[in-house]
Amino acid sequence: MSPMSNNSSSSSVARYFDTMDYGPAPESDTDAREWLARHAEGFGHFIDGRFTPAAEGAHFDTAEPATGQRLARIAQGSAKDVDAAVAAARAAQPGWFALGGHGRARHLYALARMVQRHARLLAVVEALDNGKPIRETRDLDVPLVARHFYHHAGWAQLQEREFADQVPLGVVGQIIPWNFPLLMLAWKIAPALALGNTVVLKPAEFTPLSALLFAELAAQAGLPRGVLNVVTGDGATGAALVAHEGVDKIAFTGSTEVGRIIRTATAGTGKSLTLELGGKSPFIVFDDADIDAAVEGVVDAIWFNQGQVCCAGSRLLLQEGIADDFIARLKRRMQTLRVGSPLDKAIDMGSLIDPTQLERVRSLVATGVREGASCYQAPGALPPGGSFFPPTLLTGVQPASTVATEEIFGPVLVTMTFRTPDEAVALANNTRYGLAASVWSETIGLALGIAPQLQAGVVWVNATNLFDAGVGFGGYRESGYGREGGREGCYEYLKPRAWVQRKPRADAVTVVAANEAADARNETPLALPVIDRTAKLFIGGKQVRPDGELSSSVFAANGQRTGEVGTGNRKDIRNAVAAARSAAGWSSATPHRRAQALYYLAENLSARAGEFAARIASLTGIAAKAAQAEVDASVSRLFAYGAWADKYEGTVHVPPLRGVALATVEAIGVVGVVCPDEAPLLSFVSLLAPNLAMGNRTVIVPGEKHALVATDFYQVLETSDLPGGVVNIVTGPAASLARTLAEHDDVDALWVFGAKELSRDAERLSVGNLKRTLVDHGLATDWHDPASAEGPAFLRHATQVKNIWIPYGE
Ligand code: NAI
Repeated sequence: MSPMSNNSSSSSVARYFDTMDYGPAPESDTDAREWLARHAEGFGHFIDGRFTPAAEGAHFDTAEPATGQRLARIAQGSAKDVDAAVAAARAAQPGWFALGGHGRARHLYALARMVQRHARLLAVVEALDNGKPIRETRDLDVPLVARHFYHHAGWAQLQEREFADQVPLGVVGQIIPWNFPLLMLAWKIAPALALGNTVVLKPAEFTPLSALLFAELAAQAGLPRGVLNVVTGDGATGAALVAHEGVDKIAFTGSTEVGRIIRTATAGTGKSLTLELGGKSPFIVFDDADIDAAVEGVVDAIWFNQGQVCCAGSRLLLQEGIADDFIARLKRRMQTLRVGSPLDKAIDMGSLIDPTQLERVRSLVATGVREGASCYQAPGALPPGGSFFPPTLLTGVQPASTVATEEIFGPVLVTMTFRTPDEAVALANNTRYGLAASVWSETIGLALGIAPQLQAGVVWVNATNLFDAGVGFGGYRESGYGREGGREGCYEYLKPRAWVQRKPRADAVTVVAANEAADARNETPLALPVIDRTAKLFIGGKQVRPDGELSSSVFAANGQRTGEVGTGNRKDIRNAVAAARSAAGWSSATPHRRAQALYYLAENLSARAGEFAARIASLTGIAAKAAQAEVDASVSRLFAYGAWADKYEGTVHVPPLRGVALATVEAIGVVGVVCPDEAPLLSFVSLLAPNLAMGNRTVIVPGEKHALVATDFYQVLETSDLPGGVVNIVTGPAASLARTLAEHDDVDALWVFGAKELSRDAERLSVGNLKRTLVDHGLATDWHDPASAEGPAFLRHATQVKNIWIPYGE
C-alpha cells in the first residue's frame, strides 16, 4: 500500500479506498533456504536420532508447488528402511514408557517450546513445500502444532492417574497426507508419544520437509533417540510400514481409497487402526442466519488451504428464500480473494499441491459443468507457473451429480437449496462421508436441534474449521474411525491393561473347562430339564422360522440331544438388519428409558435364574454352582449397564475461544454382534448390554455351541419393554453369519468374539462401508472379571463422539 498524500481531502480518501490495491508483502525465506542448502546432497530418513542414508539408495525430488522448482532430494524408503526404523522404535519404547508421565510431559513441553522458538522457520518451510499461504502456516498450522504438544504434555503428566487401567500400545506407524503436513504430524505424534508409545512416521511424498525439520529439531531439543523416526517415501513405503509385523498400530490420514487398502492389509493381524479419511461436508445456512457472517464462513470453509481440507465445507446448502441474495453476496466476496505466492503475506490462496491435483480439480469442475452446473470463478490473473486454481462456485448442482458426491479436494464449492429443516438434514446426510458440518442460524434452538441429526463427527454452529488439541476430531461413516485430540483421542493410543493378559482361546478355554469339570465332579448336578423343541430366530420382536427352514441339533454335555436351533442364513441376517434399522427410535430414547429397560431385563432374568442355571449346566457340563454364578454375573452385568446408560456421557470442552465444544456421546446405529461359545449367557449379555445402554440396535449371533441358552433369552426379551427390532437374534454358523454381517452396508459396527479367523474375516470384509469393528483375535476374555468384560472399554466401542462447537458472544 502506498502512503497517503498529505493534502488528501475526505473525498480523495474515499477514492483512494475505492482503488487501493495491495503491494506484495513477501516473507523472507532466507533461513529456510539455508536449512535446505545444508541438506543439498539429499535427506536421509530420520532413524534412531539421526539422518540415515536410504538402505537401497533410491531418492526422489520434492518440488515447490507454487513454482514447480525442485526443493530437495528425498530418500525413498524401502522395506529395509522401515525395518530399521521399527527396530529403533521398538528398542526405545520400554525406556520411553519407563520415563513415567512426568518425564514424558517434560519432553512434550520441550517440543512445544521448540516449535514456538522455530515458528518462523517451520511456517516458511511448510509454505514452500505445500504451496499454502504463509498467513495460514504462521497463524494457524504452527500455533496449533505447539498447542497440541502443550495439551498432550498435560495428558502425559496425568496418565498414571487418568488412564491407570490402560497401557500404551507399543510401536505406532503413522501415515499422513500432504494438506497439513506439520499439523498432521502433531496430531499423530503428540498423543502417541505422550502416552508412552514410540513412533515411525511416514509423511506424504509431496511434503516431507517439515517432518524432517521437526525430527532434526526434536533431537536437538533432547528427545531420546528412537522415540520418533521419520521414513520418507511414497505409497509403497507406507505399505511396507502397514505390513511390518513389529508395528502395533497404524494411524492413517488420507484418502478413503487408501484407508480401505490399509483396513484390508491389517485385517486379522491384531494391529489397532484409526482412519481419518475424506469428506464432503455440508455448510447449511438457514434463512435467519447472519448472512454476511455466513459468507465469511464459506470463504473459510472452502478456500482455506486451497480447499484441500478433509473437512472442507464443500457443499453449500442454502434455504430457498435467501439463496439468490446469498449467492450474489458470495460472488462479490469472491472478487476480492487473491491468489498468489505462498510467501506473500497478503494473499488468500496459494497453489494446489501438484499438477496432478490441479488436473483432478479441473477435470471434476468440467464434469460438473457437463452435468449441468453453472461455473463462476473469481476473476483475477493467476500467477504463472505452479498449480494455481481460482476460487470456484458451481450452482445449479443436482444432489446426485458427481461434484455433489465426490470429494474434489480443491477450491470448488457446490451449492444446492432446501426448504425445511428436515430437508436440510436429509440433504446434509446424503453422502457416504461424515466428517464435519456447519450450521448457520441466529435461532440457537434450531441450530442445536439440527446438530444431533447430522451424521458427522464435528459440527460447527455459526462457525467453521475450528480446531483444538483438547477437542476430538474424526469421522462418522466412510470418513473413518477414531478421534484425534482430547481424552477420546488418547484412548486411540492405549489398550485396557486387563486385555493384555488375554490368552488364545484354545488354551484359556481348556484351563477353565478342566477346573469346572473338577468342580462338577464334586457336586450334585442340577436336575436337567428334558426339553426337545426347535427354537426359532428372534427378529423384529417376534419368533420367526429361519428362511431356509433348516435347523441343527444341540447336545448336552453328557451327549444327550436337548433340542434344535434354527440355522439362520443371509436372508435372515438381511431381515434382522432391516428390523434393527427401522427401530431407530431406540437410538433417540432417553438414557433414563434405556436404563429402565436394562434393569427390567435383569429383573426378568433373575426371576428365571434357576431355569437358566440348569440349562447352562446341562449344555456346558459345568457345576451347578458355576452355572448359578454365571446367571448371577449376567444379572449383575445388566444392572451395570443400566447404571452406565445415564452416566456414560459427554463433556463440555472449553477450547481457547469464546465458546464451548460439547463432546456428545452418540449411538452408532445398527451393531452386529457375534458371541463366543464360552460362558454362553454371560458373554451374550456382556456384548449385548453395552450396545443397548448406548442406544444401538443389534443383530446378535449367539455362541454356536450352546445357542439354546440365547434362545431361552427370547422369553426374557418378550416380557421386557424393549421395542421390537432393538434386539434381533439369529442362530446358526458363526463363520458365515459373521461374514454376512461384515459385508452388510447397513450394519454400522461389528463386534466379533470367537475363533481367530472370525476376527480376520470381520475386519477384512468391513471395508465396504468402513464399519467399525471390535474383535478379540481369538483371545479369550474372562467374562467373570468386570475389569476385562464390563464398562467403558465396551461403551467406547458402542458409541461415537460428536463435538458440537458453539462460539458465543456478540
Ligand atoms: P493418499 O491417501 O494416497 O495419501 C496419503 C498418505 O498415504 C501418503 O503419505 C501416501 O504416501 C500414503 N499411501 C498411499 N498409498 C498407500 C498404501 N497403499 N499404503 C500405505 N500408505 C499409502 O492421498 P493422495 O494420493 O495424496 O491424494 C489423493 C486424494 O485423496 C486427494 O485428491 C483427496 O481427495 C484425498 N485426500 C484426502 C485427505 C484427507 O485428509 N482426508 C488428505 C490427502 C488426500
